[in-house]
Amino acid sequence: MSDTVTIFDTTLRDGEQSPGCSMTMPEKLKVAEALVELGVDVIEAGFPIASPGDFEAVRAVAQKFGERTTICALARCRREDIERAAEALKGIAKSRIHVFLATSPIHRQFKLKMAEQEIVKAAVEHVQLAKTFCDDVEFSPEDAARTELDFLCEVVEKAIAAGATTINIPDTVGYATPNHYFKVITHLKQHVPNIGQAVISTHCHNDLGLAVANSLAAVEAGARQVECTINGLGERAGNAALEEIVMALKTRKDFYGIETRINTPKLCGTSRLVSSITGMLVQRNKAIVGQNAFAHEAGIHQHGMLQNRATYEIMRAEDVGFIGENMVLGKHSGRHAFRARVTELGYTLDDAQLQKVFDDFIALADKKKHVYDADIVALIDKQTTQTADRWQLVQFHIGAGTGTIPTATVELRDDANAEAPQAFRDAAIGDGPVDAVCKAMERIIGVSAELKDYQVRAVSGGEDAQGEASVEIAYLGRRYHGKAVSTDVIEASALAYLKALNRAIGDNSKTPVTRAQA
Ligand code: KIV
Ligand code: ZN
Repeated sequence: MSDTVTIFDTTLRDGEQSPGCSMTMPEKLKVAEALVELGVDVIEAGFPIASPGDFEAVRAVAQKFGERTTICALARCRREDIERAAEALKGIAKSRIHVFLATSPIHRQFKLKMAEQEIVKAAVEHVQLAKTFCDDVEFSPEDAARTELDFLCEVVEKAIAAGATTINIPDTVGYATPNHYFKVITHLKQHVPNIGQAVISTHCHNDLGLAVANSLAAVEAGARQVECTINGLGERAGNAALEEIVMALKTRKDFYGIETRINTPKLCGTSRLVSSITGMLVQRNKAIVGQNAFAHEAGIHQHGMLQNRATYEIMRAEDVGFIGENMVLGKHSGRHAFRARVTELGYTLDDAQLQKVFDDFIALADKKKHVYDADIVALIDKQTTQTADRWQLVQFHIGAGTGTIPTATVELRDDANAEAPQAFRDAAIGDGPVDAVCKAMERIIGVSAELKDYQVRAVSGGEDAQGEASVEIAYLGRRYHGKAVSTDVIEASALAYLKALNRAIGDNSKTPVTRAQA
């Protein structure tokens, strides 16, 4: 049994399936790059048959990173799915096709309407087909945690005989508990004669809040691949959180005796990137990557920490790349000091990026008395996650106060034709100043979305902290997120809303656009 566990990241596939978390191709490439730097062993880049966009994204990720990290594509037990997956992965050194088919009684009866032996036959045929394209084939009996153990053993044995090199045991609906899941993996190890020819993998959903605990129980039982996502992103309550699995294995190496190849100081940066791109905020008290994860407020704790950090700290903040609230630089700090701080924070920027972030830093230091590490990180994130959105906010003006109707005038620039950008202006009233700005932007773009969620929080400490706004909108039956940071919370809100609108219209190019040119 290997003492290293394979970390299989499915942020770009299972994570991206989460409502409102869809990513554009450049965003997927950025996340993939961060995952490669983080050191994950396998990136599940998408489900190529799902849409042309998914296919292109898997292909682009495979072309760019398929020499360094295994790139995996998902396929149902259908010929066209497997051929499409193989096509997306074509020509790269490290590819994997992941074939899945549900096995639980409820899925067999109501979803697939297939008998047990039909399932076995389909699994075998499609694993064999995948094997004609790729040596590395993973098979998942979907909803394995609710499948009869005898039948699960039969499917697994035949899938391995057909050529599967990884057998993934998904808890698709988050039904398992740690001891139950431990027993499932143990049962497979004891009753599947050829189990030693495949790596056993876990894939846990978090509906009962047990995804990480279940994954660790499976590792204890002998699983040597864990499927997980950054920040636990994923449908419903999400998937097992990569950062929690990795740090549990690292911190409790005394117990598990298992390593990963993850470059743990990159965990917080990768978490921030995924949060910025998807707009899905990380809760403050989230383990490992939350803002409070390393905060010790209680006096008794602080006293203990001063004597010996280990009294109350089981992990070092620097081991996960955690950036606290220390005040760092002022407006008189030079470019050299700024560059040094950026490097200390774990970022590598090219000269052009550094210059832009430095310019933003100077502008921020003019507005804000204290600039914290978290502010610098927000500026870097803004520069490095910026995508070429069609609509840009040029300026806005609001009128608001008690006894007045909140009004906003807004100017947007349409970059649809990059050679000849056009400016448009409009005005609107709203329930408040933010609502008025959002309505004015919608009038200009010619769309109407429904605001589903809106949150503002401070990026760092102090009264003049930058505000980070996060919005979720519903448009034509789909959800889209947007996130932005500014010292002015109305501007942050407007930018976040515009980001979400850009995503929404980018997803539906047929959106009617009617407005008056400025
Ligand atoms: O949750 C699940 O069962 C899946 C499979 C496709 C592995 O995501
Ligand atoms: Zn899943």
